[in-house]
Amino acid sequence: MEVSVLIPAAGKGERLGLGPKAFLRVGGRTLLEWTLAAFLEAAEVLVALPPGASPPRGLRATFLEGGETRQESVARLLEAASLPLVLVHDVARPFVSRALVERVAKAARAQGAAVPVLPVPDTLIRPEGEAYGAALPREALRLVQTPQGFFTALLREAHAYARKQGLSATDDAQLVQALGYPVALVEGERTAFKVTYPEDLFLAEALARVWNGSP
Ligand code: CTP
Ligand code: MG
Repeated sequence: MEVSVLIPAAGKGERLGLGPKAFLRVGGRTLLEWTLAAFLEAAEVLVALPPGASPPRGLRATFLEGGETRQESVARLLEAASLPLVLVHDVARPFVSRALVERVAKAARAQGAAVPVLPVPDTLIRPEGEAYGAALPREALRLVQTPQGFFTALLREAHAYARKQGLSATDDAQLVQALGYPVALVEGERTAFKVTYPEDLFLAEALARVWNGSP
């Protein structure tokens, strides 16, 4: 696949409390290893690691030092990307299928920017202090996942614009959106969930036992 895959993996994993997620082992493999397995066909894979971390051996990827924030880590990866299309994918979503990777890549190649989304299963409210508050219209809302695909030049422009304007965002599509460029939506997948809290490891361990690259 003619894409540069950018893996921000420089987070500290503070909510999980078990060190950087990239090196966390689930089912005998690190989250970084699980993640890279979905991108075996990619022409280029670049990974941002926490400053000072030693790059793991034997993996087909180029390692560089991440920044203070996810956005800064992606900006650094983006500088090193050499192909016209990039896929940005969090190491914290180790069970991403090749089908999802291809779905995003295809839409991004056609439209310049594409992200996977899911419907929201729970009721959403804006609490009033400690009390229940107004419900948000959940059928109008979506959960946003990675991988997110972009024309490399577009994402570079979006990051440069964000830097100039002092914008910060938790994903890359927000920065592209801030430029005024439309971001296409494709169907996400529940198994590409983000390993965030300790309880998420039960599901990750269970998935690791049955995972063969498709949900
Ligand atoms: N990330 C990064 N550089 C940072 C911060 C985060 O590359 N300075 C990456 C993480 O490694 C992860 C992704 O961004 O793949 C999403 O971040 P998150 O799920 O918040 O992971 P952590 O920042 O590691 O976790 P926490 O916020 O609990 O510390
Ligand atoms: Mg974080």
